[in-house]
Formats: sequence, C-alpha cells, structure tokens
Amino acid sequence: MLLRRFATASTSLPPTIRQLLSSLPPTGQAIEVQLSGWIKSVRRQKNVTFAVINDGSCASGLQAVLKPDATPHNLTNGASVRICGNLVQSTGRGQSYELQVEAVDILGECNPEAYPIQKQALPVEFLRDNAHLRARTDINAAMLRLRDSVLRMLHSYYEAQDFHYVHTPILTSNDCEGGGETFRVSPASSAPPSRQSPDSSAQAEFFSQPAYLTVSSQLHLEALAASLSRVYTLSPCFRAERSQTNRHLAEFWMLEAEWAFINHVGDICDVVEESLKNVLQCRSEHALLWKDGDEAKLKSLEDASRPGIPWTRISYTDAVNELQKYHASSRVGFEFEPAWGRALQSEHERWVSERLVGGPVFVTDYPTSLKPFYMRANDDGQTVACFDLLVPSIGELVGGSLREERSSHLVEAIRRHGLKEEEYGWYVDLRKYGSAPHGGYGLGFERLISWMSGIENVRECIAMPRWAKRMLL
Ligand code: 4AD
Repeated sequence: MLLRRFATASTSLPPTIRQLLSSLPPTGQAIEVQLSGWIKSVRRQKNVTFAVINDGSCASGLQAVLKPDATPHNLTNGASVRICGNLVQSTGRGQSYELQVEAVDILGECNPEAYPIQKQALPVEFLRDNAHLRARTDINAAMLRLRDSVLRMLHSYYEAQDFHYVHTPILTSNDCEGGGETFRVSPASSAPPSRQSPDSSAQAEFFSQPAYLTVSSQLHLEALAASLSRVYTLSPCFRAERSQTNRHLAEFWMLEAEWAFINHVGDICDVVEESLKNVLQCRSEHALLWKDGDEAKLKSLEDASRPGIPWTRISYTDAVNELQKYHASSRVGFEFEPAWGRALQSEHERWVSERLVGGPVFVTDYPTSLKPFYMRANDDGQTVACFDLLVPSIGELVGGSLREERSSHLVEAIRRHGLKEEEYGWYVDLRKYGSAPHGGYGLGFERLISWMSGIENVRECIAMPRWAKRMLL
C-alpha cells in the first residue's frame, strides 16, 4: 500500500496530496490512501457527490467522488475532513486522478452560511479585515507557496556561492539607515520602577537603555562579514513608514547579503542579477496568481529571466538627464520635476524601468546627500558607490552599495549626517582592525513576490500585513 511505502521512505508523517500526486505509479492501478484536508467545494448531484479536498500542499487539490448515501450532511465548504478511499485514474477534465471515497470523517464542521471565505472572488479589503482566514483563499495560499519556493531558491543560490546564513538582532541600539523611521521599544506598563522588584528597570525600555526595532540588518552583517567573508540573512524589518502606497509596509522581510573583498559596485549588481534570474525561473509554477490581461507583465518577467541578456546599468546622472529630457518634451511630464540632487520619485523610477529601459535597471552612483552615511564615497567627491535596482510595476526592489571601509571617511560621514558618534563606536571599530573593502545589498522580499506574482500590493504578499495604523491580529 502506498501509505506504507511513504512512511518507510521518509518519516512518520503521512504523505500530503502533492506528494501523492507527484509519485503515482505509471501503471494506472488504484491506490488505497487516507488523506486529511479541507473541503474547497461540494457539488451534490442525484447519483454522485463531487467534493474538492485540499491540504494546502499544492494549488489544485484533489477531486473526491462520493456516493450520495455516503455523503455526510455536514460535508460543506471549509469543513476539515479525513478521507479514506482509492486513488484512480480520472476521465474528468483538468485532472488525471480522482479519489473514490470509501469513508469520510468530519473533523471540524464549518457552517457554510456563516463562513466568510466563499468560493467567488472576495474584495481585497474584506480579506484584509479577515487576515486570520485569508490564507484559506486559493490566491493567498498560492502566494505563500511562492514565498516558500523563492526563499528555497535563494538559499540554494547563496549556499552554492559559499555564503553563510546568519542571524542578526531584531532589537538594536541605533538606526541603521539614519532615516528616523525606527520604532522605539517602549515599556508595556508606564508604572515607575518598584523597590520590591530588582528587575523593574527591565520595564523601562530595554533595561534602561534605548532600544529600537531593526530597520535593516546591514551593520550587523558587516561585523560578521569581517570574519566569515560572505554572509546573508532574511530578517523582519520595521519602519515607522507613513506612506500608504502599494509597496510600503511597516513590517516587511528583507533579504540582505554582505561580503568582503570587492571593489566595484558592478560586482554587487552581478550577484543581484544572477541570484534573481535564478529565482525568476520558478514563476511558471505559480500561474494561478496571474490573471487574464497580465500577459505583457508575464512576458516582461520572462525576458528579465533570460541568462544571456544583461540587465541595463545607468548612472543616476544619466537617468536624471533622460528624465529631464522627457519632462521638457512631453505634454504630460511628471508631477515632480526631476533635477540632479533630488531623490527619484516613484513616478521617475517606474518611467526609467518601464519606458526608458523596458525591464530591470540598475541605477548607480547617487549623490552623497541622498544616501545613508555608510556608503563609500566616489573619487568625484559628489556621489557614492551605490545602486538601486528598479523593476517594472514596482520601482525600487533592491538597494546596495560598497561600504565606507576607511575609518576617517566614515567618522566624517557620521558627523556630516548629524548622527551620534558614540552610538556607532562599534561600527567604526570594524575599520580599525583589518578593515577590508566590502559591500552588499538588501532586497524587499514582499516587493519581489509582488513583481513575480503580479499581485499589485505588497499587503497581499505577506500573510499578516502591518502598515500605518493597521495591525488587526
Ligand atoms: O533601500 P533600503 O532602505 O536599504 C537598506 O535598508 C540597506 N541597509 C540594505 C542593505 O544594503 N543591506 O531597503 C532595501 C529594500 C528596498 O529596495 C525595498 O525593496 C525594501 O527594502 N523596502 C521595503 N519594503 C516594504 N516596505 C517598506 N517600508 C520598505 N522599505 C524598504
């Protein structure tokens, strides 16, 4: 029996529907199985009942076929069940196997009238309000599986390049980006420290010391790259971001890599490009996420994934020149006038990637005044050795740079940015002992999922989104 074969081949866990369907024998013989999952739909006919059961392991689920007299009245959409039966070849459209049911146990009933997750497409806002149930929709579950596949591919990419997967703190003593968007950790109770409790200082911030939720793991990664050479991490990041855009969250996941012994920003772009092209290959497994009308976006993703065609690289200065030419010549122009020394707005980033280039583009060497203190100064004295990767529909997906490895330049930059030198003592220290040229980047994981899936808002690219004034569970 197949059940037993799985049990000895791997673990004591029974096979999932995906495992069963992907390892069926070619002979077409019936296989006796036992499955658990949730009912996705039920169609009762006079002589037969069809029910789709899924355990979330794959997009399609499995069609179960029941005799009407063996169909419990409480077999409804959303109910959890355990089913025993025979997996047989099916003549039905769009499926090669179906489950001829012998016995059903209803493990958890689900009142179909009250159940908020109905079969038809539900409004995005309604699902945000029901974030605890949202993963039960086909689209949200597909998005979660996509996150999983992408992450596994990224892990194998870094592993193949001899990067070490490391973990950095969530509680930090400073603002890595110097952007003033940190959440400060505050005490759960504002009660004054009591004499009875020797530990009461723990309640005032972090044992009497100011503490913040991390905005980026970069500075800590730099400390580890100064020993392990090549490191990366995936960490939640927190930003007190007020923007209500489709690409900003207050809590998001950032994939960050950092490595030593590089001297050119182009070498960092090479790694970003290679790792992402690798990941873009898996987009076709997630076709469910794409809608009719998304063909152009899909084609552009397919083009971006081609190994032989390098992604465009353009300096910030050249990008601004192009933006200005367009702004002057077009009747519509931009809302914000582009000018050297000003930040690129979202409309500029999208124009550069969608209209000027028609694909992913690395914009390099931004003015020093626009970027954080840690970026390495270029010899022109006006720009830093950095890049943003802009992609169609999203805008900025990745930001990275060479880091200032010269301690005198770094201290000068900390002062120029008005940061407190004493908070960055340990960071400057890294430059005192065996300082090495190094650099790295950070990739917004939800933005990558949005780009790869065509899901327009990053709030739908994470299981339980948090954004300004919204944290329901
Ligand atoms: O450009 P950022 O701010 O770069 C850093 O934090 C660097 N310290 C990273 C590094 O070099 N190790 O952020 C990197 C990426 C952005 O390109 C964007 O994709 C994403 O993080 N990101 C956000 N994603 C969702 N919501 C937000 N509020 C985000 N802020 C940044």
